[in-house]
Amino acid sequence: MTWLKLVEGFMPMQMLFELTLCVGLFALMSYLLKKNGLAIPMFWQGVLFWLFIVLYLKYRIYPPIPFSVRAIYGTVALVAVFLWMSATEADWKKFKQPILNVMDAVTPFHKHLRTGYLVGIPLLLWGFAYSSLVPSQEEPIELRTVHPAPPASTKVHGKTFVLQTSSNPYRVNPEGKYDQEFTNSLIVEQSMGRLMKPTANPWDPKAEGYLKYVREGGEVFFQNCHFCHGDNLNGRGLHAFAFNPIPANFTDPGTIAQLQETFIFWRVAKGGIGLPRESFPWASVMPPWEQHLTTDEIWKVVLFEYWHTGYYPRTWD
Ligand code: HEC
Repeated sequence: MTWLKLVEGFMPMQMLFELTLCVGLFALMSYLLKKNGLAIPMFWQGVLFWLFIVLYLKYRIYPPIPFSVRAIYGTVALVAVFLWMSATEADWKKFKQPILNVMDAVTPFHKHLRTGYLVGIPLLLWGFAYSSLVPSQEEPIELRTVHPAPPASTKVHGKTFVLQTSSNPYRVNPEGKYDQEFTNSLIVEQSMGRLMKPTANPWDPKAEGYLKYVREGGEVFFQNCHFCHGDNLNGRGLHAFAFNPIPANFTDPGTIAQLQETFIFWRVAKGGIGLPRESFPWASVMPPWEQHLTTDEIWKVVLFEYWHTGYYPRTWD
């Protein structure tokens, strides 16, 4: 019942007001019925009122109250109903009467009811005991390969990349040649925060070559990836905890630090749905970035991830 709003900060007062209103309404209804010769028996008045309180607590109040708390309120309400029912000797007698009628089997109807209870109540108890003792079926364990064996080659934007022989076209020295030694020397190991060499600052507008590509990769990262992988690349992005498995933490030595750069290129291009059979179930929400980024942007963002974490990509050994 969320269409009738509980006003923020006034909920307890609103609740008391509503309950008082309902009690008043019930009293009026009961009075009118009685006047027309349709009085509700005392016993049923008590039962119905208690049911009303229990249902009110369950369906009216939100955020929902935990069952343990509702059980306490329900018990208190039950005590209150008993106090009400036993306020005078006459009321108490009226309240007890239907119960005694069934126990004494005053009419054939009551006799059938009594037989029904005699059979039904033990059956109910047996049912509860049975369902709480019966062993439940456990979910099967999911075994998932986090770093599956990559394919020999991968096709991105119509071009085939052989993983063993391809290399990041942006990991280059000032002469424009692929040179991991050179680019590694511009990465400063990151243990207690990044220490950037004054000569190796990608944010310097005059930066050229490798450092400029790192900056461009950073732009791709902060436009697409940080929501999940986090602005510190630690897998704690804004949306990260909505997912299971949570996005990879690149600062953990168990992820990109262990892998070849072409492996990362393949993972980014193909995403969770591109994982091979052994990674079943393909639960990962990593998007297939070939659908949104150019090949160059993928290579650059990979470059940035290594630069920012201070790791070197693994080489084929
Ligand atoms: C919607 C959330 C989301 C976004 C956005 C996202 N990723 Fe992922 N990423 C994941 C998840 C989830 C995993 C898989 C974790 C696992 O399989 O254990 C993953 C895995 C990866 C891996 C594999 C790491 C490894 O150890 O194998 C790389 C690399 C990666 N992401 C890079 C990127 C890049 C680059 C971008 C931006 C272009 C990006 N991700 C954007 C959720 C995301």
